Amino acid sequence: MPLVTLKEILAPAKEHNYAVAAFDTMDFTLTEGIIQAAEQTGKPVILMLPGFIFDRPDAQSMLDFNLNRIAKSPVPICYHLDHGKADECVKAIHAGCSSVMYDGSSLPMEENIAVTKEIVKVAHTCGVSVEAEIGHVAAPEGSVEGSVADASKFTRPEDAAYFVEQTGIDALAIAFGTVHGVYKGTPHLDLERLAQIKRLVDVPLVMHGGSGLPEQDFRSAVKYGINKINFFTGMSLATIAAMRRLIEETDGRVRYIKLYDAALQTVIQCAKEQMEIFGTQSIYS
Ligand code: 13P
Repeated sequence: MPLVTLKEILAPAKEHNYAVAAFDTMDFTLTEGIIQAAEQTGKPVILMLPGFIFDRPDAQSMLDFNLNRIAKSPVPICYHLDHGKADECVKAIHAGCSSVMYDGSSLPMEENIAVTKEIVKVAHTCGVSVEAEIGHVAAPEGSVEGSVADASKFTRPEDAAYFVEQTGIDALAIAFGTVHGVYKGTPHLDLERLAQIKRLVDVPLVMHGGSGLPEQDFRSAVKYGINKINFFTGMSLATIAAMRRLIEETDGRVRYIKLYDAALQTVIQCAKEQMEIFGTQSIYS
């Protein structure tokens, strides 16, 4: 199965009302675990690169590994840049990503539109999909500090419709009550807002900040029209906890490969659980 674009992977999700899981990777274990989860279940998956990857000295090895691993997989995989700046979107296209998220959500709307439009022009010329965000999901991505959702930054339905119409993007990330990283307090999703946006916007809708939501919130978000769910902190914390348990049980006298296996199995299990909750349909069914 070739690498697929975001547009291709989300079309059946929109038609059949499920969400495709999107997990960030930043090393071999995460890439391998996320793709093995997809292969074991026959479900499509979105493998996401954080923008900072390009500044790392080992970036090229990581990028080469990801592309080779995706090419060998029998399941549909979208290779996507998460929260990119404009230059990172160009780097991601060069690195073989089939989709980029340009994140101009902290800019005034017209500026966000102007840059997003340019990214769409370049990306679409290269056969690459574009996700963008209007409104703003709180806390920097990857944050484990915790925060609360800021309702003043939630996406306004009329802005969502205007933004999509002006930019020609393939998927829209919206803010309606989630935060990146750990929640402070109990999350409250504004499902009525999501339903209104869904009525006005024709492209698939994306929910960022999946970690920490109760299962029922995921199911409701999908029911009300979310087709891509970004999830990272929960997987990262679960993996660290599994390694820590093993280190404590053995007083640190553990073979390195056992530690790696514990991490890998946790990533696989966590990815499978989320895919199940998101209702992701298998290509075998
Ligand atoms: P969490 O880390 O809160 O799951 O959010 C991930 C995300 O939205 C990445 O874009």
